[in-house]
Amino acid sequence: MTDTGSHSYHMELADKLERDRDLSDDEFAAVLISDDPQFSDYLSAKARSAREKVYGKDVYLRGLIEFTNYCRNNCNYCGIRSGNKNAERYRLSMEDIISCCDMGYGLGFRTFVLQGGEDPYYTDERIVSIVGKIKERYPDTAVTLSIGERERESYQKFYDAGADRYLLRHETADKDHYETLHPANMSFDHRMRCLQDLHEIGFQVGCGMMVGSPGQKTEHLIKDLRFLQEFRPEMVGIGPFIPHRDTIYADRQPGTAGMTLRLLSVIRLLLPEVLLPATTALGTIDVRGREKGIMAGANVVMPNLSPVNVRGKYLLYDNKICTGDEAAECIRCMSMRVAGTGYRVAESRGDHIRYDRGGKDHPRR
Ligand code: 5AD
Ligand code: FES
Repeated sequence: MTDTGSHSYHMELADKLERDRDLSDDEFAAVLISDDPQFSDYLSAKARSAREKVYGKDVYLRGLIEFTNYCRNNCNYCGIRSGNKNAERYRLSMEDIISCCDMGYGLGFRTFVLQGGEDPYYTDERIVSIVGKIKERYPDTAVTLSIGERERESYQKFYDAGADRYLLRHETADKDHYETLHPANMSFDHRMRCLQDLHEIGFQVGCGMMVGSPGQKTEHLIKDLRFLQEFRPEMVGIGPFIPHRDTIYADRQPGTAGMTLRLLSVIRLLLPEVLLPATTALGTIDVRGREKGIMAGANVVMPNLSPVNVRGKYLLYDNKICTGDEAAECIRCMSMRVAGTGYRVAESRGDHIRYDRGGKDHPRR
């Protein structure tokens, strides 16, 4: 097979990816850079069928609570980086967080994602007490933390307090690329260590990368895919990079919806059981991005449950959607969008299903 530009070559690659759950580096590159819409449709159809074999028509909701935008880090791409003096900072109190959960629970949410910057105010003890309180009040929910890098002992305390899942994107699996995206005090090796620790402790772990981040090459994305194959996360969060005006990347090109959608399909075919969100960033770059994400193999959406008065402040990138909507509005809108794709919003916690380990439900992995 030498004619790497041909239509039928690409179709064969999609068949091979479906069959083997793997491709060579050159074949991954050919898939990722293809802009043939017929090929994308073919790949999406394969991804949908892989996902339906595991999860049927269900799409899982995760209620996102953005509880602090203070951050000690200064990532080059991020709008809430510590050096951004224009960011208006806020923290939610325990009462605020619980009232978000009360409202979310009433709306049918069974997973809460507590996301924030790396904010030293939220000591291990404070996080433990927040997690404990939510689990005590709503024992049938899953609690996901997304609060960045900490030490293994801290992660262990969170797990012991009842946290079920942890999201920590690796951002890029290439160390040199990681170092161009982050200031010198951040370490690629530490981030990878965190991901390993989280898995070993027993969390359902989500990693993921930005698509089209400054300096990203196809070879970096291939490294990301190899990392996913090896690490086997329960979740993978990917979204296009979108510039933020108060960063050094203000004038950079954003990532594309097309590349993000192809990657969603590829990841679904590599890891058929993975939980894959159609992210807010994808919905920001394309008005129908989340629906397209679901059609490309995503099976999770994360409506925002943060109080409306802080939403406009959790701005990682420009033009973020849903910053003015009440939670009830967001969930109605998301349900309509999901229904429009022919899928349906599931009522359960939507745990990761690992058929090859024999069980259906692994609430504590
Ligand atoms: N564009 C897109 N995604 C971003 N994130 C941070 N900044 C941006 C941006 N400018 C993503 C990172 C982070 C997640 C919470 O949001 O991947 O891990
Ligand atoms: Fe928030 Fe549509 S999901 S307004």
